[in-house]
Amino acid sequence: MILLIHAHPYPSHSRGCRALLGAVREVPGLEVRSLYDLYPTFDIDVPAEQAALARAALIVWLHPTYWYSVPGLMKHWFDVVLTRGWAYGKGGDALAGKPCLWATTTGGQPATYAPDGLHRLPFDDYHAPVEMTARFCGMQWLAPFVLHGAHSVSETELAAAAQAFRARIAAHAKDSDA
Ligand SMILES: Cc1cc2nc3c(=O)[nH]c(=O)nc-3n(C[C@H](O)[C@H](O)[C@H](O)COP(=O)(O)O)c2cc1C
Repeated sequence: MILLIHAHPYPSHSRGCRALLGAVREVPGLEVRSLYDLYPTFDIDVPAEQAALARAALIVWLHPTYWYSVPGLMKHWFDVVLTRGWAYGKGGDALAGKPCLWATTTGGQPATYAPDGLHRLPFDDYHAPVEMTARFCGMQWLAPFVLHGAHSVSETELAAAAQAFRARIAAHAKDSDA
């Protein structure tokens, strides 16, 4: 099973994440958990989340980049679901070895993530907190999938990104069948 954790506070206003999610919804074996639909009051069902993670052969995190990081409910999900003794620490090996694919969209164009750009640093430099969350839990960190300029890319570019995302996920679906 491929588990996709989707965290978008305003899915009906989404362009980028919506296209990425739409492209993979029909991938066989994919289970989507949209956190803002499931937990509008932030009252996360931790056993249900952990059970879904335990069943997953691939874990995908999909969200828009907010303040160089994850939306609030995704951060809260990290805080309460990835617990000591379960995800890390003594006996905390529930996620060990599971591949993790981080997929995010940004408002900023690629050129804004450069020393002379608005965001000053390459986008790779902003990976660290999410990457280390996965690695701290023993997960296998895959090359992230990033769609920059999600508001402004053309329809053709958006469709191409969505298909590329689908290909990344479908490749795993195939691997886990083998
Ligand atoms: C609260 C907030 C914070 C944001 N922070 C960033 C940011 O740090 N870097 C960036 O490039 N875009 C930022 N954006 C823009 C979003 O990343 C962008 O709207 C989103 O990725 C577009 O995807 P969507 O169409 O699925 O909503 C921010 C937007 C909001 C509302």
